[in-house]
Amino acid sequence: MKLAILGSGFISRFYADALVGQRRKDEISIVYSRTISNAKKFADDYKVPNYTDNIKDCVSHKDVDAVIIGLSNDMHLEGVLACAAAGKHVLCTKPLGRNAKEALQMLQAVEKANITGGYLEDLVYSPKSIKSLAMIRNGAIGEVVWAKSRETHPGPHSDWFWNKEKSGGGAIIDLGCHCVELCRNYIGKNIKPVEVMCWADTRVHPIEAEDNAVGLVKYENGAIGQFEVSWTFRGGMDLREEVMGTEGTIWTNNFLRTGFEMFTSGKGGDYIAEKAESNSGWLFPVGDELNELGYNHMFTDMFEAIEHNRQPAENFYDGYVVNSILDAAFLSAKTKQWEPVKIEDWRGVAEKKKEKQMTSYDEDYYLIKEEVLPSGEKKFIVKNKKTGSIEKK
Ligand SMILES: NC(=O)c1ccc[n+]([C@@H]2O[C@H](COP(=O)([O-])OP(=O)(O)OC[C@H]3O[C@@H](n4cnc5c(N)ncnc54)[C@H](O)[C@@H]3O)[C@@H](O)[C@H]2O)c1
Repeated sequence: MKLAILGSGFISRFYADALVGQRRKDEISIVYSRTISNAKKFADDYKVPNYTDNIKDCVSHKDVDAVIIGLSNDMHLEGVLACAAAGKHVLCTKPLGRNAKEALQMLQAVEKANITGGYLEDLVYSPKSIKSLAMIRNGAIGEVVWAKSRETHPGPHSDWFWNKEKSGGGAIIDLGCHCVELCRNYIGKNIKPVEVMCWADTRVHPIEAEDNAVGLVKYENGAIGQFEVSWTFRGGMDLREEVMGTEGTIWTNNFLRTGFEMFTSGKGGDYIAEKAESNSGWLFPVGDELNELGYNHMFTDMFEAIEHNRQPAENFYDGYVVNSILDAAFLSAKTKQWEPVKIEDWRGVAEKKKEKQMTSYDEDYYLIKEEVLPSGEKKFIVKNKKTGSIEKK
């Protein structure tokens, strides 16, 4: 795959590290940055043969099959529309839009131009997410009742994130997009998200946008997706999931405590891991950040999707659904009510809320709970099928 990258900042460098850091057949042909010296520096660092400060020249370059967008949130729409006009496949970082209206425009543009729109939601492709999703899809934890995802760190690294107009919001748009899409994957992307209740506040930083938020996303089958996000968490970057199903449980910790612990007096390099706050004392490095954060598996899926003319697992429709959920979260934080998720073009199943599944204890009773007590006695809590009375056996 011959690639263009729009943007030369933090995420573009992570993407380039994943694309050219190890032997791969894919090549970056050209990089765009609005500041030409930054474009040149990026091109020099990654041995990219061309660089420019003109978006149209970048995407329409002859040696480009697909364009990767790593620009600030306010520039995603312009980048995607340029790709659609040039007929080039486009892979856009998260969040797709600053709101669902922008995301829908991007979705419609790629569909009209008949190009692939890949949504670069890397955390769905982390090795732990891939394995968890495979286990959930084969039924290992039964029906998912409640999925919870947490992404917290001390705040982002560039000025534009903190400007609500440019970013579209604070921790909800920046981090909530990851959590919402992870929970959607766990609960089932075919299940419609119906309403959202959200608390958000600006607790610490002198900004207009929220720096902390917790939200509940209710799905049509009764499942709940919970997101917890913060730009004021101290101690690094915390990426954790808890998935509770009728037959099992999954807990994952993707970043801060992955089983790698190290002590140093502080001599040596400064960089420990993304958003680490210290380089001395007991530290929690991440062995292979590119892989742990999902970038390698994500690009493999994206490029294979383009080559085989199929949709990548994460595509612009997913980005649009995520933005629709986040729009409802922002509204709920204001109104303090459950707010409906408005999706113009729902493509999943129209599933009705399932009847509760009852396990029979015998002809007359349902089983509620069985437990072995410390004495060895086995206890059964049952419900009378006719009278509804709850009894012990
Ligand atoms: N895990 C992830 O998937 C992840 C992580 C970090 C950032 N991101 C996303 O990547 C995007 C970029 O974030 P970043 O962390 O690289 O930020 P950054 O500030 O390091 O880089 C932003 C890039 O956009 C360019 N830019 C900013 N305003 C522009 C304008 N008006 N015109 C043209 N170019 C402009 C900058 O010059 C820079 O090249 C954001 O959408 C962010 O949400 C995703």
